[in-house]
Amino acid sequence: MTSTIAVIGTGYVGLTTGACFAHLGHCVICADIVPEKIDQLQRGEIPIHEARLEELVRVGLDSGNLTFVLGAENAVAEAEFVYLCVPTPQSADGSADLSYLQAAASEISAKLRPGTIVVNKSTVPVGSTLLVEQALGRSDIPVVSNPEFLREGTAVDDFLNPDRVVIGADDHAAAGRVASLHLGVRAPIMVTDPASAETCKYAANAFLATKLSFTNAIAAVCEAVGADVNDVLLGMGYDHRIGHEFLRPGPGWGGSCFPKDSKAIITIAEDAGYDFSLMRGVVAVNEEQFDRIVGKVESVIDVDGTTVSVLGIAFKANTDDTRESPALEVMKRLVAKGAKVKAYDPAVTSVELDGVEVVGDAYSACEGASAIVIATEWDDFKWLDFDRIADVVTARNVVDARNLLDRGALRRRGFTYQGVGRN
Ligand code: UGA
Repeated sequence: MTSTIAVIGTGYVGLTTGACFAHLGHCVICADIVPEKIDQLQRGEIPIHEARLEELVRVGLDSGNLTFVLGAENAVAEAEFVYLCVPTPQSADGSADLSYLQAAASEISAKLRPGTIVVNKSTVPVGSTLLVEQALGRSDIPVVSNPEFLREGTAVDDFLNPDRVVIGADDHAAAGRVASLHLGVRAPIMVTDPASAETCKYAANAFLATKLSFTNAIAAVCEAVGADVNDVLLGMGYDHRIGHEFLRPGPGWGGSCFPKDSKAIITIAEDAGYDFSLMRGVVAVNEEQFDRIVGKVESVIDVDGTTVSVLGIAFKANTDDTRESPALEVMKRLVAKGAKVKAYDPAVTSVELDGVEVVGDAYSACEGASAIVIATEWDDFKWLDFDRIADVVTARNVVDARNLLDRGALRRRGFTYQGVGRN
């Protein structure tokens, strides 16, 4: 059954939601407040790095199932469902800033036809469904929470092949109608109350961040006792209760979600009278991990006045997103200690960080460097010619914060090699 859906906000969540619903056969209108973005999208140009998204948008535009308009109020008049996919950035006190969400709800309120279901996909603190209801001020409009579990870079695949769809609603008929939009998607669909759906989103991200901080902490233990973290994690991951995923040690976790959501759940708990000390520890271990990577560089060179090459700027591979990137955290610390940083990333061409020069290829980044840090796990870095790099560096030192490279091959070429959690 085809439905008419409006999607407010065309970030990676909104755009993916819109394009995927169009792919599932629905009629979708996406709205944003940035005119240039809408012009671009109407031409089928995608402003972000997201696998398959461009193809889905083009097919949607050609079939007429997908259109883009400027301004939320211009998208919603005919809609049976309105998805709110606006940003909820972190406020100064660590809580989520809900002003975009409230503004979007107020803006569309008068234009909605009776019975339209408003679905909130933005990540919001518990109780925000009520806040949207208040901003709408319409008793004839049910508001439903439907948190997203989309990873940047693989958002389309995550949308079309999800592990689950979580729908939070007091109005069960509305929940059933939202569930029906996902016909064609093979996944368990669970219906719960709004507070549980909202908490589930934070809990999932907080748990994954915990798993990663634990992984990095175990890597530190491995370094201390002389064990190999890859084998330790492999042995752990075979236990189906633990699983192999999200057990890759690294320079710490980042991105637009984990840091924001980890801090938000601490604040949410605190406001409700619970001291989430475990989560505070998880965040602290992550900060320590940035320092540990810098410490590895300092163990081989005096960074003050020295050039360090950092390969990778994005917060993970296959995205150009640098928000809360561990690579930037490492660079900031190196610069603070007097290093001159030359950085390269296959998808990022600039950063606003004093003391950091972004160059056009990995070899230029290594020229004159006394140490090389692998900060993002781009496949491209696996295939670098280290004979060529050996000729252009000032000293042969590699800190592989993603355990990406062949350490034997590097050592044979006279490089010192330090990974994470193994010698
Ligand atoms: C994350 C969640 O994985 C999604 O389920 C969620 O929907 C999304 O946040 C969100 O809240 O919108 P994302 O931020 O795209 O997705 O990034 P992840 O792929 O989860 O990676 C987060 C960080 O963990 C990155 O810095 C990555 O490099 C790091 N990571 C991940 C590791 O260091 N090791 C791993 O094994 C996995």
